[in-house]
Amino acid sequence: MTSVIIDCDPGHDDALAILLAAKHLDVLGITTVSGNESIDNVTSNALKIVEFGNLTDIPVIRGAEGPLFRDAVYASHVHGKSGMDGAEIPEPTTKLQEGHAVDFIIDTAMSTSDLVLLPMGPLTNIALALRKEPKLRDRIKLMSIMGGSSTSGNYTAAAEFNIYVDAEAADIVFRSEIPILMSGLNLTRQVLAKQEHIDEIREINNSTAQVIADLLTFYLGTSTRHSHDGAAMHDPCAVAAMIDPTMIEFEPMHVVVETTGTHTYGMTLCDVRPGSVKSKPANMEVAVTIDSDRFFKLLIDTLRMY
Ligand code: BDR
Ligand code: CA
Repeated sequence: MTSVIIDCDPGHDDALAILLAAKHLDVLGITTVSGNESIDNVTSNALKIVEFGNLTDIPVIRGAEGPLFRDAVYASHVHGKSGMDGAEIPEPTTKLQEGHAVDFIIDTAMSTSDLVLLPMGPLTNIALALRKEPKLRDRIKLMSIMGGSSTSGNYTAAAEFNIYVDAEAADIVFRSEIPILMSGLNLTRQVLAKQEHIDEIREINNSTAQVIADLLTFYLGTSTRHSHDGAAMHDPCAVAAMIDPTMIEFEPMHVVVETTGTHTYGMTLCDVRPGSVKSKPANMEVAVTIDSDRFFKLLIDTLRMY
């Protein structure tokens, strides 16, 4: 089984991603990063997820309190004040694992063969780890990242939220030369949870699925209020890419992060000119299409396993 660390900012879709990963991959730890909400809130949410998912054997380690150089930006317009509104979940009693996420990532990478990172929030922890331990880039087999877009953004017209929040961190990570699979908005907007999916999840006879149905109801509400046709399954796409890459089509591209643009800060500029003599060599595989039906079958079948 592939060994992974999930670096996240839960987040409704982060919660689904964790539950999906935990039944198919060897999750060595969940590290948190300021993103959808403050580091306190997202760390508390991660502990709640391992509790309602009966996954408390997976350690949760707190990470960066904010971006490398900029003020924190949150997404309460999507995920609510707690970062994971919509379900009645008791305050967690599970203790955090001591230490910092950055050290956990470094130490685990140094002692684990073929480690895969699954970053689902701003890339602050990963960038800090790469700067603290340059040998890290030779120890990580692959990163399957939810972030960016080869088309339009969501936080701004140009930029996707995870990259916008800490574009300088994303720039460090994208230039690390570690193999990357990028699941950006161009992909994740192809998998939209709708009321029919929530109804199917509601019928699953376990308490974890009931919490997810409540969370998805909230997330679908904010998504439709923002004129989307459903709730995009952003973060679980990056997990699905590791579990069953045959449901996703990738294209090699050269991708850079805009860190200075007046109107385009945080944009992932994807060179979609295949084979052009002007193109630089590809530095990642960009996910371009996904089989939505197969994705939802995997997700819902997995929720039945809880
Ligand atoms: C990303 O931003 C967050 O709100 C989601 O959890 C996802 O990681 C989508 O832009
Ligand atoms: Ca996220």
